[in-house]
Amino acid sequence: MSDPNPVRVLGFAGSLRRASLNRALLRAAVELAPPGMTLTTFDLADVPLYNGDVELGGDPPGVAAFKQAIREADAVLMVTPEYNHGVPGVMKNAVDWASRPPRGAALDRKPVGIIGASPGMTGSARGQSQLRQAFEFTNSYCMPQPEILVFRAHEKFDAEGRLTDEPSRKYLGAYLEAFAAWAMRFKSPN
Ligand SMILES: Cc1cc2nc3c(=O)[nH]c(=O)nc-3n(C[C@H](O)[C@H](O)[C@H](O)COP(=O)(O)O)c2cc1C
Repeated sequence: MSDPNPVRVLGFAGSLRRASLNRALLRAAVELAPPGMTLTTFDLADVPLYNGDVELGGDPPGVAAFKQAIREADAVLMVTPEYNHGVPGVMKNAVDWASRPPRGAALDRKPVGIIGASPGMTGSARGQSQLRQAFEFTNSYCMPQPEILVFRAHEKFDAEGRLTDEPSRKYLGAYLEAFAAWAMRFKSPN
């Protein structure tokens, strides 16, 4: 029987590449989401670069849809690559839009999970750490542990982008269980 009151999670990846390892990791998360969680995804392709002048005239449609999707979710799962030891612009730009206006923003008091993948040996660790810092300012509840750092990620997905590495699948499943419990702490009963 399905859970009558599941934790609703919105997931998005900070890469626009069709063959993105991080988009593939997000798909794996959808596949492995535990019974008490619904995980829907949002594509950041239609979120333009942040511009305060544009914002003054109202959120562009892609931004409005993004913020609305976050507001409707109980929690947000961000799947981030690492670029130059930091957060890629695609992901940071999305967070910047969703942090506006300060206080009362879509990310305010929202539980957040961060995972990521990289072909390198650190599995996006520095990108993830840097992304965490943003949630001090946005007043979001970023889950401290566990972590998912998919290192040598190009070896862990098949040609169709399916996560085939069994330990990674196990860790991701356990992470999602922990994230569901984390998000549940902040969910108001309805
Ligand atoms: C501009 C740029 C900078 C990068 N810097 C890093 C880095 O600092 N650390 C790392 O592990 N990988 C780095 N990479 C490699 C990315 O991890 C790799 O391209 C990865 O596949 C990107 O994520 P995606 O597959 O989800 O698009 C970089 C790639 C690009 C394009």
